[in-house]
Amino acid sequence: MKIHNFCAGPSILPNEVFSQASDAVKEINNSGLSLLEISHRSHDFVDIMDEARDLSIELLGLSRKDYTPLFLQGGASMQFLMTAYNFLKNEAAFLNTGTWSKKAIKEAKIFGKVDVLGSSEDENFNHIPKISIDKEYDYFHCTSNNTIFGTQIHNFPKSNVPVFCDMSSDIFSRVINFQDFDLIYAGAQKNLGPAGATLVVIRNELLERINDNVPSMLNYKVHSEKSSMFNTPPVFSVYVSLLNMRWIRNSGGISKLEEKNRKKAEILYSEIDINPLFKGHAKAEDRSIMNATFNLTDNNFKNTFESMLEKANIKALSGHRSVGGYRASMYNAMDIHSVKVLVEVMSELESKI
Ligand SMILES: Cc1ncc(COP(=O)(O)O)c(C=O)c1O
Repeated sequence: MKIHNFCAGPSILPNEVFSQASDAVKEINNSGLSLLEISHRSHDFVDIMDEARDLSIELLGLSRKDYTPLFLQGGASMQFLMTAYNFLKNEAAFLNTGTWSKKAIKEAKIFGKVDVLGSSEDENFNHIPKISIDKEYDYFHCTSNNTIFGTQIHNFPKSNVPVFCDMSSDIFSRVINFQDFDLIYAGAQKNLGPAGATLVVIRNELLERINDNVPSMLNYKVHSEKSSMFNTPPVFSVYVSLLNMRWIRNSGGISKLEEKNRKKAEILYSEIDINPLFKGHAKAEDRSIMNATFNLTDNNFKNTFESMLEKANIKALSGHRSVGGYRASMYNAMDIHSVKVLVEVMSELESKI
C-alpha cells in the first residue's frame, strides 16, 4: 500500500536508501559486522566519513580548497549558538523570517549585539522582508527556507559581510550560488538523511578567526583539525546521509532534482490558487518549493477533507500549530505522483460544494 508521507521532518528518503541502510545495519562491506558495531576509527568508517564530506562539497559545487565540510551533532539548534560562540565578537545582523530565525537570534544575543534588519513577524511570517546590509557586521544570518511558514528566500540580499545560512529544509533541493555563503548548516533530517548529524560547510578563511577560548566541542577549528572525528560521530546518520547524497548524484544532481521539485510545487500551488476551498498562507512571490502551507476557506469542510486524506493514504499533512491548516512538505524523495494524489483529493473536495 503506497503511503503519501508529507511529513515536514524527519521526512521521507528514497526507498533504495532505506533498503541499503538496513543492509548495512546487518552487515557492512562483507565484514561480518554491523555498521553499528565497528569502530569509527576503522578504515570502513573513515572511508564513509571521507566520502560523505567530499560528496557534500561536490554536490554544492564548492571546492575543498575553499571550504571545509563537517558532520556535527546537536542538530541545527546547536548551530544557532555555535555560529555566535565562534564568530560574534561585536555585532551580527539577522533576518527574522520565522520560528527558526527567532531561535537563532535568541541564542546569538547571549554572545553579543544583534541587529534584526527585517522581520515579517507582524504578518505571521507570510513573506520575506526586503532588506539591505549597509553596515559592518561580524556576519549576516538568514534562514533560506522557513519550514513552518512555507516561505523561501529566492533572492538573497547582497552583502559585504560573511553570510551564514540555515539551509536545514532546502539543502540539495535547488541550485543557488553557494559560493556567496561563508557558513552553511543543515540538520540532516530532511533532504540529507536521518536525524542525528548536522552538515556544516564553512569557508576556510573563517576558521582562522576562531579564538582558542571556544570550548573544543563547540569549536569549528577543532572539528576541522580532527576531520570531523573529534569525538564519536553519529555513524548511522552520516552513513545514511552518504547513501542519500549518492542517490542525489545518481539522480543527476541538485539541478535535476530542482526541476522535479519546481514541478511538484507548481502542481500544488496551482490547485491552491484555483480551488475556492483553499487559501495559501505565504505570499505568492515568497512561496517555498519544499513546504506549502495552506488553509481551508470554510472550516465546515474540515472533517470531510481529513477523512478523504485518510482514505487516500495521505499522511502528516497537518500544519504547524503556529499556522494551523495544512502543510505539504515535498522534499527531494517525494514523487510527483504523491502530489497529484493530494491535488485530486483537493479538487474532489471542491466538487462537494
Ligand atoms: C529551518 C530549520 N532550522 C532549524 C531547525 C531545527 O533543527 P534541529 O531539530 O535539527 O535542531 C529546523 C527543524 O525543523 C528547521 O526546519
